Amino acid sequence: MKNKRIFLSPPHMGGSELDFIHSAFERNYIAPLGENVSGFEEDVGAFVGAKYALGVSSGTAALHLALRVLGVGAGDRVAASSFTFIGSVSPIVYQNAEPILIDSDETSWNLDPNLLEDLCKRRKPKALVLTHLYGQSADMDAICEICERYDVTLIEDAAEALGATYRDRFCGAIARCGVYSFNGNKIITASGGGMLVSNEEALIKKALFYATQSRENAPHYEHKEIGYNYRMSNISAGIGRGQARVLPDRIRVKREIFDFYRRALSDLPVKFMPELPPSRGSRWLTTITIEDKSVTPEKLRLALEQENVESRPLWKPMHLQPVFKDAEKLISGVSQKLFNKGLCLPSGTAMSRDDLGLVAGTIKKAFA
Ligand SMILES: Cc1ncc(COP(=O)(O)O)c(C=O)c1O
Repeated sequence: MKNKRIFLSPPHMGGSELDFIHSAFERNYIAPLGENVSGFEEDVGAFVGAKYALGVSSGTAALHLALRVLGVGAGDRVAASSFTFIGSVSPIVYQNAEPILIDSDETSWNLDPNLLEDLCKRRKPKALVLTHLYGQSADMDAICEICERYDVTLIEDAAEALGATYRDRFCGAIARCGVYSFNGNKIITASGGGMLVSNEEALIKKALFYATQSRENAPHYEHKEIGYNYRMSNISAGIGRGQARVLPDRIRVKREIFDFYRRALSDLPVKFMPELPPSRGSRWLTTITIEDKSVTPEKLRLALEQENVESRPLWKPMHLQPVFKDAEKLISGVSQKLFNKGLCLPSGTAMSRDDLGLVAGTIKKAFA
């Protein structure tokens, strides 16, 4: 291969992560909890403006805990964005609840509030897992209003949207509870991990209880309920703490990468994921749709691959996944259309101008 591989969104260390890990080693806080975990919880909670935060092993685990503490159980109907990663929806199934998949609208690419309202009018779900996709906020005014009117518990899946805002409030910290992921490809990483945030202390305390095997307060191991081993490790949290220090910079650079692509590809028949007017996205991934049938996303992906550049189709909607073929769905066709013509472009914050130029140049050549 001619050049080093350019990945979609690789980890980008800020420089202080190892200090936090060394400190854990020095104090022998290797397993499992310690001050990096509480420090990282404080960092993220303070950043997004949530009073309480719980560090866990993944974003999926955080969503699972959210559903459990909010009382979602067997047979409950839980609506979810269909245009998302499966980690948004599998926790609904873990709880033996029934997912109801809701399509996107064109103005946000996120959940269509009209379809949510249609569902509520027919038979309201108990809860909604709402994804803020690719670092861009869903239509929170409309969705929060509907959830309030029909008494639907709203859980924000902001796994991809740490740093995005809606009316100057951070996505993930607007509803009763929200979730972030620190998976390796996210805007900041802990090599793996997730966080549940809320302003309700009781909710986070209960989640902590379930995340630590539902251990009762006794010197021996006493259990009245089944829980999970979901806590974040103190070593991972050390990486997270270092990353939290550079989060504002990472958001700035993600947005600069988006601006670069928008300018560089302005002559081509491509569209970019919209940003709703009251929101400000983190632009975690720059995503495009190709508005010219002669160039498919796969053709672009293969052209980039030839240059050792990773790109990826947009998420295949959950209602098109074989595993959810029998799930209830409200479909307009928007997310399928986006999936058919969309591509995620490399958006790593350590990319150089030359890297970005190579990606843009390759895309232009594929259109020529
Ligand atoms: C929208 C969305 N929800 C949930 C998750 C699950 O997070 P994790 O991989 O940390 O379990 C991810 C991504 O990883 C995601 O993109």
